[in-house]
Amino acid sequence: MARRKKIYEGKAKILYEGPEPGTIVQYFKDDATAFNAQKKDVIEGKGVLNNRLSEFFMLGLSQIGVPTHFIRRLNMREQLVRSCEIIPLEVIVRNFAAGSLSKRLGIEEGTQLPRPIVEYCYKDDALGDPLVTEEHIAAFGWASQQDMDDVLSLALRVNDFLSGVMLAVGIKLIDFKIEIGRVYDGDFQRLVVADEISPDSCRLWDIETGRHLDKDVFRRDLGSLTDAYSEVARRLGVLPQTAPTKPTLIN
Ligand SMILES: Nc1ncnc2c1ncn2[C@@H]1O[C@H](COP(=O)(O)OP(=O)(O)OP(=O)(O)O)[C@@H](O)[C@H]1O
Ligand SMILES: [Mg+2]
Repeated sequence: MARRKKIYEGKAKILYEGPEPGTIVQYFKDDATAFNAQKKDVIEGKGVLNNRLSEFFMLGLSQIGVPTHFIRRLNMREQLVRSCEIIPLEVIVRNFAAGSLSKRLGIEEGTQLPRPIVEYCYKDDALGDPLVTEEHIAAFGWASQQDMDDVLSLALRVNDFLSGVMLAVGIKLIDFKIEIGRVYDGDFQRLVVADEISPDSCRLWDIETGRHLDKDVFRRDLGSLTDAYSEVARRLGVLPQTAPTKPTLIN
């Protein structure tokens, strides 16, 4: 059997060439990293949960007309996506202060922000993904003004959708990060939500207790990461309500 071609191996996923041109297979690994990969571990079951959760969010977004790279899930750890040219930015949307914003501006974690704040970081691990402004983005040609208008509008639509979905299951969406890709249909370029949406890339707090249900559990050693991600998946109906010890997932 021919071995498929690996395109890229990142910290959390492996990309393989897909079956048709313009497609990619995303394989979700169990590896967890934080603080620019200074902290590392293998968390059994994380990849399966993130594959299912990202599928759930991407499908929900397409249902409300937000374009994404998602085509279909292939199996427990893999999904087929459209191959895109990733805009080299981490697009962060914040509803409540936390993490680096709290540190930078001295605002207590959990403080509600006056309105959603969108930030951009330049995707460069060697530099530690530094915060940049639209001035940098335009001057260095990472994205055009038209792209940035579309990026902002996508980011805010994703925020509305995700906040609502989470609120309905008793979870506060503190902040999240997305990546945006360009796809070409003939001569036309359009932007789609790419990469993944999962508790690895969101901050999610239980509304009642404030319990962290996201990657901060790993960053801050707050207990079992798979318990936290399984809890999110169960509340969203992605996992059966009765809690299996290992993520035996429904199809
Ligand atoms: N649809 C897509 N087409 C092409 N590349 C994609 C697509 N979706 C995600 N990617 C890229 O695939 C990689 C996913 O791997 P992973 O998340 O493990 O990377 P990473 O270690 O976080 O590195 P990076 O700093 O590049 O994000 C990322 O580089 C991401 O930008
Ligand atoms: Mg990544």
